[in-house]
Amino acid sequence: MSEQLYYDRSMDVDVYPHLKLALEILDPALSRVAVDVGCGAGRDALFLIERGFHVYAYDKSDEAIARLSEQGRAHLNQKLFPQVSHFEAFDYPSVSLVSACSSLFFCHPAVFSKAWMNITESLLAGGVFCGHFMGPNDSWARMGRGDLTVHSLAELQVLLQHGFQIVDLYEHDAPGMTLVGRQKHWHTYSVVAQKVD
Ligand SMILES: C[S@@+](CC[C@H](N)C(=O)[O-])C[C@H]1O[C@@H](n2cnc3c(N)ncnc32)[C@H](O)[C@@H]1O
Repeated sequence: MSEQLYYDRSMDVDVYPHLKLALEILDPALSRVAVDVGCGAGRDALFLIERGFHVYAYDKSDEAIARLSEQGRAHLNQKLFPQVSHFEAFDYPSVSLVSACSSLFFCHPAVFSKAWMNITESLLAGGVFCGHFMGPNDSWARMGRGDLTVHSLAELQVLLQHGFQIVDLYEHDAPGMTLVGRQKHWHTYSVVAQKVD
């Protein structure tokens, strides 16, 4: 139920400013091919297709991929390649952009390194990563559920030190709401980073 409501509402929300920034700084000489990591109902994937990208979009949710396939049916298997998959299992193609908006922190810590290595290797030199990480003050992190990957700022900087130059990093540490209307404390880092080698 809340998954359905989330996917409904996510399509009415504008894409994150950092996804727009990622496109602004993307080297125009690079091919416009992207992976949308944990794409949900596909707001970002459809946004990218409108801007000339071929998009490989995956999500663990059958419901999400069914919605995206329906919404993007005019582009299916031409510019849009949706797939049910998991962060660590997806077969990442070579791309100039990886977008992971509000998704990658749902990766289980036991497989985060593998997922991150695959993401890093999929990016062409000069390509751009754009996405969110979860900080330790987030109420979901504080619950100690164990299935989320949480980074302190220092840990995030170490992660990105290897192969990336940070273009912008925005920390959000404040009470707020989820898209389905639940109160929580958000602690996230929104990152735009460019692959340097
Ligand atoms: C908060 S939603 C964000 C969806 C989309 N990126 C957006 O901004 O609308 C997080 C998404 O991550 C997906 N997800 C969670 N764990 C996953 C995993 N292990 N592998 C792939 N996708 C996963 C969920 O199914 C969900 O669609």
